[in-house]
Amino acid sequence: MNDMKNITIYIDDGGDRDTALTLSRHIGIPIADRMGDELTLVVDGSGLSLVGGGMRYQGDFSRMLSRVTKGRLHHEMIVKLAKTKTEHPVAVDAAAGMGEDSFLLAAAGYEVYLFERDRVIAALLGDALHRAEEDEQLRGIVGRMHLMEGDSIELMPQLGITPEIIYLDPMFPPRKKSGLIHKKLQLIQKLEQPCADERELFAAAAALHPKKIIIKRPLNGAPLADRKPSYTVKGKAIRYDVVVL
Ligand SMILES: C[S@@+](CC[C@H](N)C(=O)[O-])C[C@H]1O[C@@H](n2cnc3c(N)ncnc32)[C@H](O)[C@@H]1O
Repeated sequence: MNDMKNITIYIDDGGDRDTALTLSRHIGIPIADRMGDELTLVVDGSGLSLVGGGMRYQGDFSRMLSRVTKGRLHHEMIVKLAKTKTEHPVAVDAAAGMGEDSFLLAAAGYEVYLFERDRVIAALLGDALHRAEEDEQLRGIVGRMHLMEGDSIELMPQLGITPEIIYLDPMFPPRKKSGLIHKKLQLIQKLEQPCADERELFAAAAALHPKKIIIKRPLNGAPLADRKPSYTVKGKAIRYDVVVL
């Protein structure tokens, strides 16, 4: 989890003070009377955004619509890997981030339980989900996404569900070439720490006895927790390792 030393909350035009106060208490970061020098969670009329280094990022599932409409969803690698005949399938996303991969699973009909342990990221994701519920085109999909704030290693055992799949996409080890990563990643990666508990994460996922664990990895990275996958599917920049249990 990130340390919260360099993050503040700032209330901008149209921002709700009560929302900011609740966030401040929940996350444990102060409300400042100006933008912070490093990272600022901005509460304004459009919801919650993360601002820093001249960039602004706000979760927005409407940007994902083009990937799930007009027959495109079934070309998504994760959707192909998650294909199932089960009627009401359940997935667990044990490292949710901004929930984009979960959104694809939910669009494919999965009920998805998303765990996010970083409170700032969880707040940004919660806000994006909340705004999406107001959107007619997104409501049905995000209605199947259930965000749980906290560490999936601790919380998954309490879920009491045997999911069809568990999806693991903890942050990759640092990359040397980072110049080309886009705005979302540049800002969000300031908060994330590379995964230091791969083995515990994999063990907690396996203990739920899903049919498969699907793991996103860097194209040429080592398998998560050194666990040899049952099979691998490669994309241009990443690969998916699938462990069939
Ligand atoms: C690379 S991001 C996931 C991106 C995501 N797949 C998406 O589509 O937006 C990894 C996230 O997993 C979270 N994370 C890592 N380990 C976790 C754990 N054990 N429990 C909950 N969240 C975890 C990190 O805080 C980070 O936000």
